[in-house]
Amino acid sequence: MASLTIRKLDEAVKVYLRLRSAGNGRSVEEEVRVILGELVQGRSELSGATPLSAVAHAEAAPSVSASSERSVTLIIGGGIAAFKSLELIRRLKERHIHIRCVLTKAAQQFVTPLSASALSHERVYTDLFNPESEFDAGHIRLARECDLIIVAPATADLMAKMAHGHADDLATAILLAANRPILLAPAMNPLMWNNAATRRNVLQLRRDGIHMIGPNAGEMAESNEAGIGRMSEAVEIAAAAVDILRPPRPRPLAGKRVLITAGPTHEAIDPVRYIANRSSGKQGFAIAAAAQAAGADVTLVSGPVDLRDPPGVTVIRVESARDMLHRVEAALPADIAIFAAAVADWRVANEGEQKLKKTSAGMPQLALVENPDILATISKLKENRPPLVIGFAAETEHLIDNAKAKIARKGCDWIVANDVSPATGVMGGDRNTVHLLTRDGEKINVDSTKVESWPVMTKEQVAAELVAKIAQTMEKNS
Ligand code: CTP
Repeated sequence: MASLTIRKLDEAVKVYLRLRSAGNGRSVEEEVRVILGELVQGRSELSGATPLSAVAHAEAAPSVSASSERSVTLIIGGGIAAFKSLELIRRLKERHIHIRCVLTKAAQQFVTPLSASALSHERVYTDLFNPESEFDAGHIRLARECDLIIVAPATADLMAKMAHGHADDLATAILLAANRPILLAPAMNPLMWNNAATRRNVLQLRRDGIHMIGPNAGEMAESNEAGIGRMSEAVEIAAAAVDILRPPRPRPLAGKRVLITAGPTHEAIDPVRYIANRSSGKQGFAIAAAAQAAGADVTLVSGPVDLRDPPGVTVIRVESARDMLHRVEAALPADIAIFAAAVADWRVANEGEQKLKKTSAGMPQLALVENPDILATISKLKENRPPLVIGFAAETEHLIDNAKAKIARKGCDWIVANDVSPATGVMGGDRNTVHLLTRDGEKINVDSTKVESWPVMTKEQVAAELVAKIAQTMEKNS
């Protein structure tokens, strides 16, 4: 069995081990033994409750570009997790982020200003009433002369003070005077995290626009308890910081109104029974989320599905095809309309007012009538027709030919055609193989249609690709 010489390890690994062992009150050798034991049992503290792959991903997270060095004020709160904040300094510096540290009084019980200063290569701030630093309102400068404020560990007490606007020491005065984004990495005992007062404070802080990462689940360092309360790993916090510091994503659909239908429709037979189909709504919801992320003002009219509202999207839930049409018409005007719903083609003409009963007269006969075609109705509007109308074609045979005929018949501009035969697993599944059919110019006929075939993708990727195409077209036409 090979023996391990700590001295010969990478400098970065040695620093990590030193910090971690100090925090856990063990020798470095003991710490290595614990880590190896946990790795064998698949629960390394390196990852805590976070899978190692997530840590690896965070490690690989791109840094903020060196050309625009960003600056962070790091407030270290008082808790055993403070030792991880020393590692956080190193992780942030690796990402070309300049750091100034503030240590609360309680933090100094766990780490020294000297170690924070040595790692950050900067003077460390501890006191609101220090004449030297407060000569020129130091707490205001620490709050404003940075791009982000990180609080790690954010203790229950510090969060309570923030939620109530206290400012009786340097850390809370900075936080109250801040006009920069704030990222909290909470760390506390699981009972404290679950306490009603902390829950209220967390909710308030989230409403105030404060970013939060963690806490993770795992064992507590100071007791034999386990639960949610461990501070996120330094690499996770650094990755979250880089995300916040990154310049905002482009919003190519800003100012555009996008209307989307999704999901199946339910057509009532009687008060308890209905006709439906297997649509999950996933593709329409993914498009709504992608359009929202691209800056659009999105209204999603959805049939009955088991999906959560995408954040920032106005979601209107409907049951039948006729409800869907009414709500779509009411949501106009729009710049782009995307009809991803699997609308039932027929409804029951003689819908029972009461539950149909079994009688000796035999089985009830269901008469069907055709539902309105929402896509065709909107495509053929004389007024208020959205400039770009996109339909879907769910086919089980002759995919391209049927989709070409559909684009001409319905009068829409594009069709996203997909094969929904059971073997493809598209209906209800997470992946989709689509073909984008676009027609050129005003003339609607089968021959003027272009076909672009996309590889198999997740429904989110299809959504992102479609939104990118839409943005490109809108830009070209503007
Ligand atoms: N669609 C609609 N209203 C309907 C039927 C379909 O808006 N009553 C829309 C769908 O949202 C989709 C497109 O029309 O964008 C094509 O739907 P699809 O089910 O593939 O075609 P159908 O029109 O139902 O034709 P068929 O069943 O004959 O293939």
